[in-house]
Formats: sequence, structure tokens, C-alpha cells
Amino acid sequence: MDQVYYGTSTEVIEELMSLGGSSGGARPKANVGYNPKTNELIHGYNTLPDGFNHWIIKFPGSEDPQDIANIEYAYYKMAIAAKITMSECKLLESAKGLQVFATKRFDRVGNDRIHMHSMAGLTHDNFRISNIDYGHIINIAFELEQSASAREKVLRLAAFNIYSHNRDDHSKNFSWLMDESGKWTFAPAYDLTYSSTAINEHSTRVSGEGTNPGRRHIIELANEFSINKPEEIIDQVQESIAQWPSIAKECGVSKVSINRIQAKFLQLKD
Ligand SMILES: Nc1ncnc2c1ncn2[C@@H]1O[C@H](COP(=O)(O)OP(=O)(O)OP(=O)(O)O)[C@@H](O)[C@H]1O
Ligand SMILES: [Mg+2]
Repeated sequence: MDQVYYGTSTEVIEELMSLGGSSGGARPKANVGYNPKTNELIHGYNTLPDGFNHWIIKFPGSEDPQDIANIEYAYYKMAIAAKITMSECKLLESAKGLQVFATKRFDRVGNDRIHMHSMAGLTHDNFRISNIDYGHIINIAFELEQSASAREKVLRLAAFNIYSHNRDDHSKNFSWLMDESGKWTFAPAYDLTYSSTAINEHSTRVSGEGTNPGRRHIIELANEFSINKPEEIIDQVQESIAQWPSIAKECGVSKVSINRIQAKFLQLKD
């Protein structure tokens, strides 16, 4: 049986960090129960006690900058400003003062699971050798949700990933949720943060362009799928990302990281 932990978030984070965390992706992560009222964390429980919800905690990897959690938290704030739906996220602090990124699980309600499928799973896409385009995601979003707003949600997220230099936008980073009646909806966005890839291209192309997509490609996609007012979506996203220096500062991102990321934004195509 797993070791069980119960305590204040600072204590439990410190203990989980010393275990190294299990990794289902680039960074070590832990599934925890979090009680926002008492700021208590638990780990290793099969059933959560009253007052606790399922959250995921992401720890910095060994190669990551110290403020990686702050950077992801600032991206969460920018995404919300850009009208992108995300599950609640928080910065939590370990006893030694290291910040970790925490996100409330959108595939759990209390102790119940919500059926979730990723773009990779639905389309049998091997995300490591993927060849997908945002157009494929828009297509599936519409097939599953049967509403024009589904297409717009994906386009907005594509614009956000482009202008915030989130290039690790592979097919496991988009999902859908199915409710008890069988109705599908595009899941809240997750894993939005500054990222490059080995070849410094987007993992998901934008109307065929992976290297440096911009406004022209977003509008091409919008036209292809009859999405209204793409310029408005682009402007809203760009306005939110223009707030990077101030949002990042509020979130505790270091001056060095603020400038490094800002410099990358300036190299992007409009
Ligand atoms: N808020 C959430 N609710 C439910 N599931 C989530 C949430 N956030 C992340 N996940 C799930 O956890 C997985 C890992 O999270 P995330 O993508 O943020 O980590 P990562 O280590 O940065 O991944 P990557 O391998 O893409 O670099 C996601 O692919 C998704 O399935
Ligand atoms: Mg991911």
C-alpha cells in the first residue's frame, strides 16, 4: 500500500518532493487531495475525506529553472485574461520555500470520475511522431460538441499557444470530457506554459505552419472552419499576453525569466 500523508500543504509538499514524485510527463507530479479552507494536503488516500478535492501538483524537474511553477501560474493568469477556460490553479509553497504548481482536477467531482479522452487517445495519434494540425482538433471538437463555439475554443487556444510560445502543444495536451448523458465538451485547457521543442516548432501545426505561425495562419483556419471574428480573438489573446511582464512579476517570476520569455515573444510573427 502507498504511504499516506496528511498535513499542512507546506509539510506534505516537502515530503512528496523528497520522494521524487512519479512522472507521467516531463515533470514529476503527484495526485493529492487538497482542502482550500484549511490549506491541508493529503496523499495516498483511496477516498478523499470531506472538504478535500483532487488536485495535481507539478514539481520542478532537475533541469528546470527554480521559478518554473511561477511561470506556469503566470500563464494560467494570462489564459484566464484571454478568456480561455481553465480549472483553478494555485501556487503552493514547500517548507523550504520552493513553489510548486497545483491544478484542480477537472476529471473528478468529489470522489467521482468524469470520463476523459485526449486528442492523442481519440485519434490514435502517437504524440511523439505526430503530424496533426489545429484543424484536426477543431474538426473533432465540432464532431463531439456539435456547436460552433467548440471550434472557437480551439482557435482561441491555438492563438494563445502561438503568441505565448507554448510549443509543446502535442496531442496529449488537448482533451474532452463526457458527462453521464454521453455529452462531450472540450476540457479546460492545461499544461499552458513557456515551452520549446527539440526542433523548436509547434507540436501541432497551424494551418500547415509549425515553425513560426502567426495571424495569417489563424485566419486561414478560421476561414476554413467558418469561425467568426478571428481578428477579435487574436486581439484579445495578444492583449492578455502583452501583460506578461506585470502578471509574471505578480506571480513571483524572476526578472531573468521575465526578460528571457519576453525576448522570445518579440521574435514571434504577428
Ligand atoms: N487540471 C487537470 N485536470 C485533470 N487532468 C489534468 C489536469 N492537468 C493536467 N492533467 C493531466 O495530467 C497530464 C500531465 O499534466 P501536464 O500536461 O500539465 O504535465 P507535463 O509534465 O507538463 O506534461 P508534458 O508531458 O506534456 O510535458 C495531462 O496530460 C493531463 O492528462
Ligand atoms: Mg502535458
